Amino acid sequence: MPFTPAPTELESAIRSLKKELDAVILAHYYQESEIQDVADFIGDSLALAQEAARTQAKVIVFCGVHFMAETAKILNPTRQVLLPDLAAGCSLADRTPPAAFAAFKAKHPGAFVITYVNSSAEVKAMSDVICTSSNAVKMVEKAPKDRPIIFAPDQHLGRWVQKQTGRELILWPGSCIVHEIFSEKLLVQLKVQHPDAEVVAHPECLERVLQHADYIGSTKGILEHVLKSPKREFIVVTEAGILHQMRTRAPDKTFIPAPPDNGCSCNECPYMKMNTMEKLWRCMAERSPELVMPESLRLAAYRPLKRMLDWS
Ligand code: 13P
Ligand code: SF4
Repeated sequence: MPFTPAPTELESAIRSLKKELDAVILAHYYQESEIQDVADFIGDSLALAQEAARTQAKVIVFCGVHFMAETAKILNPTRQVLLPDLAAGCSLADRTPPAAFAAFKAKHPGAFVITYVNSSAEVKAMSDVICTSSNAVKMVEKAPKDRPIIFAPDQHLGRWVQKQTGRELILWPGSCIVHEIFSEKLLVQLKVQHPDAEVVAHPECLERVLQHADYIGSTKGILEHVLKSPKREFIVVTEAGILHQMRTRAPDKTFIPAPPDNGCSCNECPYMKMNTMEKLWRCMAERSPELVMPESLRLAAYRPLKRMLDWS
């Protein structure tokens, strides 16, 4: 096992491994700030999937959660995909077991299946098209008008999309353990304390929280919105990792994280935060853990993902 660099040397060690491996580091906005700073590309789940599909680097190092690395492999199978922690899951993907989803689908014969990218490859393979929070409205608008639509696994995103499109959706009862615990009461109190602040929220939040938002969108959508908004103060109702990019790109604006209902002052995804600089360095130094999957599963999951990219 290679000798672990001191914490202050991890960044330069990662940068030299990047050259040695001909690797690209992709990171989600919810990663810790040091990982975002060393990444070549930071994005939301749609932008990361698009970048993973187009990269020419030999190795993709994916700093996000398992389903995101899996998506990169499905889209770009000739590249080696490494991830700092194979166990970094997601409550949406983990609580949608393929067998239960197949049974749910069987109860709605003829339904067109739109599946959120926060799902396993097996569940993607049972879907007609994949969506992310950036393009879910568009995917529903493009779905056949004469068929019922199953929308899985996030029921809150589904409800929000239902409102935007006016299409009735058959919802799988999944939720994100991070976004479902924002406190409506504390959000209202924050709004009273900061009457000029704009409230920006992710559509995975509960409807009663979303009703207080001035802007609702994916992490990338939220970031772009606060950068171009004339407002100076924002209450941010999504995972706290996004604050790093907001504060870096708009140092003259104030960003206040909305609190969850568990006594903490901000809300972090425990899965996303399983990745650390040391694990990132180690996965590159050891070229492990690597994301691998059977080719038959990859091909079956590729079809609805490719459709999403074509429709986006
Ligand atoms: P984005 O599509 O906004 O990146 O969301 C991913 C996610 O996991 C939100 O919790
Ligand atoms: Fe999954 Fe929620 Fe974490 Fe996003 S924030 S990875 S949806 S558990």
